[in-house]
Amino acid sequence: MNITIIGAGYVGLTSAALFAKLGHKVRILEKDAQKVARLKIGKALFYEPGLDLLISSLIRSGALVPIDDYADAIVKAEVIFICVGTPPRKNGQADLSQIFSAAQGIACYIKNGAVVAIKSTVPVGTAERVKKIIQRKSLVHFEMASCPEFLREGSALADTQKPDRVVIGVNSEHARKVLIKLHEKLPGERVVTDLRTAEIIKYASNAFLATKISFINEIANLCEAVKANVDDVALGMGLDPRIGKAFLKAGIGYGGSCFPKDTRALNSMAKTHYYDFKLLKAVIEVNQLQRKIFMEKVRTALGSLRGKKIGVLGLAFKNNTDDVRESAALEIIKELLKKGARVTAYDPQAASNAKKVIPKLIVAKKPGEVANNADVILILTEWPEFRTLRWDVFKKKMHRPLILDGRNLLDQKTMLALGFEYISMGR
Ligand code: UGA
Repeated sequence: MNITIIGAGYVGLTSAALFAKLGHKVRILEKDAQKVARLKIGKALFYEPGLDLLISSLIRSGALVPIDDYADAIVKAEVIFICVGTPPRKNGQADLSQIFSAAQGIACYIKNGAVVAIKSTVPVGTAERVKKIIQRKSLVHFEMASCPEFLREGSALADTQKPDRVVIGVNSEHARKVLIKLHEKLPGERVVTDLRTAEIIKYASNAFLATKISFINEIANLCEAVKANVDDVALGMGLDPRIGKAFLKAGIGYGGSCFPKDTRALNSMAKTHYYDFKLLKAVIEVNQLQRKIFMEKVRTALGSLRGKKIGVLGLAFKNNTDDVRESAALEIIKELLKKGARVTAYDPQAASNAKKVIPKLIVAKKPGEVANNADVILILTEWPEFRTLRWDVFKKKMHRPLILDGRNLLDQKTMLALGFEYISMGR
């Protein structure tokens, strides 16, 4: 099939690679000409394990073509996936301007019988609005669909190649058949439903995962009060298949370009429809509080932060990515700097993105540098390699052997046995 993907972000680029690998002719339309030029020479636009290698081989073989012009991208397309960003507005609502401008571009060149599927996370009713925009300019017959994407940054390729489910929101038999055929080689259950339901499945999924995280974070806070261990609580709960082990890791709260934005957008959607989503509001509030609770732990341990030397391990919003959008680590660092602390931070991938957000941040080239003369080391991202650092050597370099582990990454007994003062979350 001739497929066009609009938007070369995580979702667009990974989906483009997937469909090209499955044997389709894929064009990826990106309005930023510089990004297209980078893609053409096989350069990655962001760090995602395995993606750059796959993209460059698919581009070399001609299976995937980066384009910056709507006419070239759309005229032949049988299926068009809209994968542009839907960033948050100040009021929490999703900003749909990129979606609508993609619709305008599609309208000029769409061919008869094409299916336009939205993969971006969008509020209920967006597919219908896109349909109207295209119909205003075009007389051809086309169908709308909603195919939300569930990939995670850091494991995007594996997630798209082995989805648990493929959600297909359609209101016509033609669109259903085309999308079922397009996904036929992929495993996972098919959930075929209407446009609006498919749109809300994505928000409900992200909001539920965020709920699990805020729930376990509150249990962690309670564990501290009653002197219990949240890791064991999570294990004891998670072994029940009705609960599940995933997303029960307590810490400094969720970040990234999805959960914070999508929980706020769902809440705002509920408000627009005069529904008071009490649970979701609490999930958002708990997440914000969790960072404050961690800051309080730092203040309690160090007293005044003015002039204190703080080493930070981790800047990305989670491991295996260079993405720092809504990263809890950066929020905490901003607070520390405001309070007069001197911060040196290390991250295996995200240092240069973090510098763009906090220009005065001192970034270390090696993890060991953050220990030099430090009053404390904070662990703010769950990179697994931090577990196997030479902590005995770190201890010798530190001014005070104090670790505040915001991700419960290290083994408590080992750290205490090494002679550290070790503080974590709910343990
Ligand atoms: C999330 C969803 O997991 C994907 O299914 C979805 O497709 C994606 O959003 C999206 O909407 O595009 P992602 O933002 O890449 O994926 O990251 P997650 O792995 O879900 O982690 C989100 C945040 O939760 C991170 O800050 C992570 O550190 C935190 N987290 C995760 C916890 O604090 N505890 C956990 O147990 C799990």
